[in-house]
Amino acid sequence: MPDSSESGVLELLAGHASCRAYRDDPVPETDLRRAIEAGQRAASSSNLHMWSAVVVRDRERRHRLAVLCGDQAHIRSAPVFIAWCADRNRLDRAAESRGYRQNTEFLESFLVAAVDTAIAMQNATVAFEALGYGCCYIGGLRNDTAAVVDLLELPAHVVPVAGMTVGVPARPLRRRPRPALDTVLHWERYTPAAPDQLLEYDRIMRDTGIYHGRHAEGVRPDGQSSQEVPDAEYGWMEHSARRVSVPRRTDLRSVVERQGYGLG
Ligand SMILES: Cc1cc2nc3c(=O)[nH]c(=O)nc-3n(C[C@H](O)[C@H](O)[C@H](O)COP(=O)(O)O)c2cc1C
Repeated sequence: MPDSSESGVLELLAGHASCRAYRDDPVPETDLRRAIEAGQRAASSSNLHMWSAVVVRDRERRHRLAVLCGDQAHIRSAPVFIAWCADRNRLDRAAESRGYRQNTEFLESFLVAAVDTAIAMQNATVAFEALGYGCCYIGGLRNDTAAVVDLLELPAHVVPVAGMTVGVPARPLRRRPRPALDTVLHWERYTPAAPDQLLEYDRIMRDTGIYHGRHAEGVRPDGQSSQEVPDAEYGWMEHSARRVSVPRRTDLRSVVERQGYGLG
């Protein structure tokens, strides 16, 4: 385990890689508590703590979640699945007990809860990785959000934001390259990424071989589906372009509204 010195923390962060294959070993409850407690130590907007983590260890329930998350095989292999949820339900009780009504009519109230959730889950991820576990976020938790709400019995003002698998990695993790720092780092004012920076990342990602046999489906503006392209021409640009060309999870707004949020 890395030490807690500054370089230890930075090394741990630099070593992050998503884990998609797990050993059967269970994750002891003490470790789950430690990592989620690390999530609690994260900053929280107005100290409101607008999130909850639902830990699912039961095999049958994990498999049901895996199916809801798009049947991603690696989800079934993980001994723990955590559903991270934006949660303003507790605040209903705080408000009511003091003679107020929580106003959740505007996008802001959902967004601050979702941001709190994201910050907490990332703190927990770092803690899990410090404890020697591997994790993978699962946006697939929003593939059928209404079914997840039912399965986890989420009350009003609780909405799944992302899932996370946790377990002991079955094999060494492979770090994915990142775009050059100056692609995302701006000084004083925003500077759009230079085309050659994106092309460089395109090439680097293509050369990892990550996309071999894993070409995404895209839709062109004229409605045509993606044509097959050789692996040699399929890099980060093609993959990302295809990913963002397809509308996803278009039911989310109605589920969020059903859970009691206005998005005005
Ligand atoms: C909010 C979020 C949702 C994600 N959802 C999935 C998912 O459903 N399945 C999956 O295999 N990976 C998922 N990932 C992992 C990303 O694919 C991964 O973080 C990215 O490719 C960078 O790779 P790395 O984490 O190994 O550095 C998700 C990541 C985030 C932040």
